[in-house]
Amino acid sequence: MSFRAQTSDLAAERFDGIGPGSLLWQLAGDSRIAYAGGMAGILQTMHPVIGQALVDHSDFFDDPMDRVFRSLPGIVGVVYDDPKAQTGHTVRDFHKEIKGSFADGRRYHALDPATYWWAHATFHMMAEHVADVYSLRPLGDDERERLYQEGVAWYRRYGVSEAPVPKDRAAFQVEWDRHCAEVLQPNPASDWLLKLVDGRVFPKVGRPAYLPFPERYHRVGNAMLRQGLVRKLIGPPLRLSYVGALPAIVRERFGIEWTQSEERQYWRQARRVAVEWRVRPTAWRWYPRAYAGWIRATGAPPPRSASR
Ligand code: HEM
Repeated sequence: MSFRAQTSDLAAERFDGIGPGSLLWQLAGDSRIAYAGGMAGILQTMHPVIGQALVDHSDFFDDPMDRVFRSLPGIVGVVYDDPKAQTGHTVRDFHKEIKGSFADGRRYHALDPATYWWAHATFHMMAEHVADVYSLRPLGDDERERLYQEGVAWYRRYGVSEAPVPKDRAAFQVEWDRHCAEVLQPNPASDWLLKLVDGRVFPKVGRPAYLPFPERYHRVGNAMLRQGLVRKLIGPPLRLSYVGALPAIVRERFGIEWTQSEERQYWRQARRVAVEWRVRPTAWRWYPRAYAGWIRATGAPPPRSASR
C-alpha cells in the first residue's frame, strides 16, 4: 500500500490534522530531536516560573537527564499516541500540583497558560530545528506556517487555555523574540544548568535513559552511557548542538560565550548529521514512542519519505 493510500485511509483518525500526513509527524519524534531538544530544555529552565518549579518540585539537580528522559515519552506521546488515549490530558494533569511561591510571595502554577505555552513553544522550535538545522531540506515559508498550525493543534491536545497562543507563525516569532529579550531571566536553575553544559561532560544518568533508537538496544545504550569515556566523548558535540541552537540574544543576555569558530563547528556538525541521516536505517530514525505511533496508525514502519 502506498504512503498516500495509507494516509487517506486514516483521514478519519486525523481529526485535528496531526497524523501520518502531517509535517509534525515527520519531525516531532525524529531521533534528531536529541540534538535540538537541548535548546528547548535550556530555554525552559531560563523561564522564571519553570526555573522555580524545578527547584521546588524536581530531582533535576541530582539527576538532570532523568527529568529529560522521563518527560520525553510523554512529550512525544502527545503527538503520536492514539488521540483517544488523551495523552495530552495526562501530561497536563501531571502538572496540577506543580505550583508554589517565589521568595517575594508571588504565586506560580505550571498550568498558568502563558507559562505552559512557553514550554510548548520551545518544543515547537525543536521540531522546526530538525528540518532547518539537521536536514538537507529546511522548511519553506508555506511549510513553516503549516507546521505552526499543526503545532497549535498539538497544543490543543493538552486542553489548556489557548489565550496566549499566537494566531500564525509571524505572530509566534514576535512572542518568541519578546520572551528571549525580556521574559527569560537568569535564575538558580538556569545558572546551574548552563554551568553543567559548559562542563562538556554528559551527566551521569541515575535511571535507565529513554534513547533515540529501538528499545531492544536501550540496555546496551545505557551500559555505554555509564562509561565515563563515552560521557566525555558525547559531551562536547551535544554542548555544541545545545548552545549553538540558542537565539543570539539569549546567549548575550545570559553571558554564554560563543565564538565564530564554534558557530562554524555547529553548522559543520549539523551538516554531518543531515548527510549521515540519509543512510540511517528507518528504525534508528525515530524515538520508540513515535515509531510505535506509525505502526499503530499505518500498520507499517514509517516510510523513508516520512523523514526529511
Ligand atoms: C507543553 C508543556 C509541557 C509539557 C509537554 C511537559 C511535559 C512533562 C512531562 C511528560 C513530565 C514528566 C511526567 C512524569 O514523570 O511522568 C513533566 C514533568 C515536570 N514538568 Fe512539565 N511539561 C510542560 C510544561 C511544564 C511547565 C510550564 C512547568 C513548570 C512551570 C513544568 C514543570 C515540570 C516539573 C517540575 C516536572 C517534574 C520533574 C521531576 O519530577 O523531576 N512543566 N513535564
